[in-house]
Amino acid sequence: MAAQNGADWWRQATVYQIYPRSFADANGDGLGDLPGIASRVDYLARLGVDAVWLSPFYPSALADGGYDVDDYRNVDPRLGTLDDFDAMIGALHAAGIKLIVDIVPNHSSNRHEWFQAALAAPKGSPERDRYVFRDGLGENGELSPAPDWVSAFGGPAWTAVGDGQWYLHLFAPEQPDFNWRNEEVREDFLKTLRFWSDRGVDGFRVDVAHALAKDLPADLPSQAQLDAIDKATGTHPLWDRDEVHEIYTGWRAVFDEYDPPRIAVAEAWVNPPWRRARYASAAGLGQAFNFDLLEADFDAGAFKGIITENLEQAAASGSSTTWVFSNHDVVRHATRYGLPPNGDQPRKYNRAWLLSRGTEPELDTARGLRRARAATLLMLALPGSAYLYQGEELGLGEVATIPDGARQDPTFVRSPGVDVGRDGCRVPIPWTVEGPSFGFGSGPAHLPQPDWFGKVSVEAEDGDAGSTLSLYRAALGLRRELQADETLAWVPSRDDVLHVRRANGWEAVANFGTAPVALPEGEVLLASGPLGEGELPGETTVWLKQA
Ligand code: GLC
Repeated sequence: MAAQNGADWWRQATVYQIYPRSFADANGDGLGDLPGIASRVDYLARLGVDAVWLSPFYPSALADGGYDVDDYRNVDPRLGTLDDFDAMIGALHAAGIKLIVDIVPNHSSNRHEWFQAALAAPKGSPERDRYVFRDGLGENGELSPAPDWVSAFGGPAWTAVGDGQWYLHLFAPEQPDFNWRNEEVREDFLKTLRFWSDRGVDGFRVDVAHALAKDLPADLPSQAQLDAIDKATGTHPLWDRDEVHEIYTGWRAVFDEYDPPRIAVAEAWVNPPWRRARYASAAGLGQAFNFDLLEADFDAGAFKGIITENLEQAAASGSSTTWVFSNHDVVRHATRYGLPPNGDQPRKYNRAWLLSRGTEPELDTARGLRRARAATLLMLALPGSAYLYQGEELGLGEVATIPDGARQDPTFVRSPGVDVGRDGCRVPIPWTVEGPSFGFGSGPAHLPQPDWFGKVSVEAEDGDAGSTLSLYRAALGLRRELQADETLAWVPSRDDVLHVRRANGWEAVANFGTAPVALPEGEVLLASGPLGEGELPGETTVWLKQA
């Protein structure tokens, strides 16, 4: 089965996430840009990806890395122009690569013309109704309407505007939440979906898809009361409310105006996991991220449970599942897997290690990479879409040594001493062994790169048969050739080994243990590390083909 075309192209696609400000800088200003991406299309084609997901490239003051959008239907002038966008998408399409763009509907930036209009307009005005404003408490509204609500980046979730009113921001104060009960807000996003779809965009990644619908009671609950509400009921005032799906029904109608229909994938951190199904349904966005592998330890039992559950869920929703190990919000998986299990802290952040600036606990870099390669090779053999994050194909690790003064992520300043933030996975990609920013641009990069980046650059890995880049290229090429229907069978194996088989006899055997195991029968297609004589070493995955 070759790469899918037609309406179902996304079901088992390999999607490569580009964080545009850190991918390639064509004009040497230190910030990656759209011409930079266009100049690397050959690289993407050679890598073998089916689609690119582009994180926000819209005008933005970068209060949250571009997830604070000033204007949804334009390009940040530092990243290029709409013409550059057209040239980039033209080059991608000519290479057979689709384009998914990020859309950020929960909040705009505080510089968006609507928020500026809301600030200039009085209480109760139509301008304020597009956002979530509330009167403050106290005689003159000088107290927050919900003083202890904490935003996702730390710090208060409500900010005063000076006339007794306050606005809600679930994220940074520069990211005021939209009021999705407002008809103009709804209409404007449909316009945005059509704007990019008309320009040839193939789909959308929907940021914080589970937060749009809100229902705030007159008396706001405390944070503790909010936290105690059972999210499974779909009635939480802020998150994952059932009526959010009405919005996506409207979006689906727009997607279906196009041929092939535009696709969407929801970023919805919902719990319990079965609540993802409605986001993923064909009447809704069509697909939803499952972040379960990204939150799991390198453990055969954990992986098996996650794979089984997600394939069942996908089958129930009619969608295909998604697999993700890394993205622009989490510690890179080559690093996570080189650190000891994280206790009850979230796996994706490795807080203690980041706070120690990468010194404690000690990182086993070789082990992290070995496991990351093994985990990825298993994932790439599973049914569903694989979402890769720029740089993981080089085996890049997290950069923990960014000086405090160079950090950009708002979590760093908003949660002092608790979260270092996400800059460590957003350091610009090394393309060459040498150079002021290792080939990223002609000058220094907007986030400093460590010395070791040259060794993991594209130039260093290109042509090295043992490199992670060579492994990804080989795996993606074979994945395209071998792709089979969306079923999976488990071949009985030891507890620390996972052995899966696709309908056409394509198998992956992953040894999560440290001791070698006997290599099962079959033609060896590819391995994540060197194989022993008749043996599959520890922390290694092999692809086999049965006749
Ligand atoms: C999503 C994005 C993240 C951003 C947040 C607020 O979780 O992935 O980067 O900070 O939404 O927009």
